[in-house]
Amino acid sequence: MDSIIVRGNGPLKGQIPIAGAKNACLTLMPATLLSEEPLTLTNAPRLSDIKTMSELLGSLGAEVTSLQDGKVLAMSSHDINNHIADYDIVRKMRASNLVLGPMLARLGHAVVSLPGGCAIGARPMDLHIHGLEALGAQIELKDGYLHAQAPKGLKGAVIELAFASVGATENILMASTLAKGTTVIKNAAREPEIVDLATCLRAMGAQIDGDGTSEITIQGVDRLHGATHPVVADRIELGTYMLAPAFCGGEVELLGGKMHLVKSFVEKLEMTGIHVEETKAGLKVARRGARVQAVDITTEPFPGFPTDLQAQMMALLCTAEGTSVLEEKIFENRFMHAPELVRMGASIEVHGGTATVHGVEQLKGAPVMATDLRASVSLILAGLAAEGETIVSRVYHLDRGYERVEEKLGNVGAHIERVKDT
Ligand code: UD1
Repeated sequence: MDSIIVRGNGPLKGQIPIAGAKNACLTLMPATLLSEEPLTLTNAPRLSDIKTMSELLGSLGAEVTSLQDGKVLAMSSHDINNHIADYDIVRKMRASNLVLGPMLARLGHAVVSLPGGCAIGARPMDLHIHGLEALGAQIELKDGYLHAQAPKGLKGAVIELAFASVGATENILMASTLAKGTTVIKNAAREPEIVDLATCLRAMGAQIDGDGTSEITIQGVDRLHGATHPVVADRIELGTYMLAPAFCGGEVELLGGKMHLVKSFVEKLEMTGIHVEETKAGLKVARRGARVQAVDITTEPFPGFPTDLQAQMMALLCTAEGTSVLEEKIFENRFMHAPELVRMGASIEVHGGTATVHGVEQLKGAPVMATDLRASVSLILAGLAAEGETIVSRVYHLDRGYERVEEKLGNVGAHIERVKDT
């Protein structure tokens, strides 16, 4: 398995282009299953998770062609000849469960393995199941697979989610575009990736209102047609790279970055003493003062502080002046980066879903292990601010969610290299 070596760095300077959002692309791709006509996505990110989703869609009979070095995905689901999403593919990535709603709506049946994904908590699928059942599906769990059918087709319903789950909102939204009548999703997730999915579905002929609010209304249609849709910018990649100059000093412009995607994150970043400004091309971030200041963080569904930026923010706060308290409210086991940061000299106490970080003056390089996607990038950022060399191993998690990380950070002056496993 490849490793990444990072050496403590001076100030960074330059521009980093932000890719299309992994999490948006992973829900837009299964939308191809809803129509016999082609769906083309532009601004797709080049990531291993995207390859996994292509493999999964291919196994169902869809064609996925990667064009322009992976930035364009041309998909066709004209001939869906398999309705079983196999464990061997699904276990690699939780987002595989997003084929369930579209297959059920288009074919009237689907068999989908329960997913794997990052080891950050139980991540059950009860909300997806209840929502699809409310639309008239019958779902049974057998041998680790969800067996779903809707022999009489799906029928619109009012569904109130017990929690604003991103994946459940996406599955129900996709399924209900082809259901008979009106569906209302209450307490729906409001993430920009949901808005992006709804925008794409509308381009395919779906009738959807209220996306981006907690109540989405869908008027079912008989069929969806083809479309071309650009994937929204990745707000998590954006936030991650906005932190790079906060760690090392200097000034970096994030091309394609949009403030509305990262507002709550920016509010906290500014409280640490980092300067953020909007430019014509994106967002510019500068650290001018000496040490960042402590700040308390609570993760919440959008528009709150994103759980996917918690690990990276914790890494920054390790060297802040003062004590920061981080509360993780979305996943029950998402502090696995803390013991690795402690190996680099950080002072962190974890009690359940709360981590208390006492800022130290300086982190020290160490061999560390990436335990999940966002944890792995937090260790790279910490390495940039540490004295000496940090070796981050097991970086396959990183390749799931960050395209060409060593190139993007290297281009703004970071000392970072990948060591290929031989
Ligand atoms: C998506 C993102 C992930 C992000 C998360 C929260 C993708 C591919 N992934 O994951 O990067 O961290 O949103 O912003 O878009 N839950 C249940 N029952 C369910 C579904 C979820 O209890 O049926 C719980 C989960 O265990 C978790 C919480 O709800 O504790 C949030 O999950 P959810 O919003 O569904 O996240 P994902 O869609 O899996």
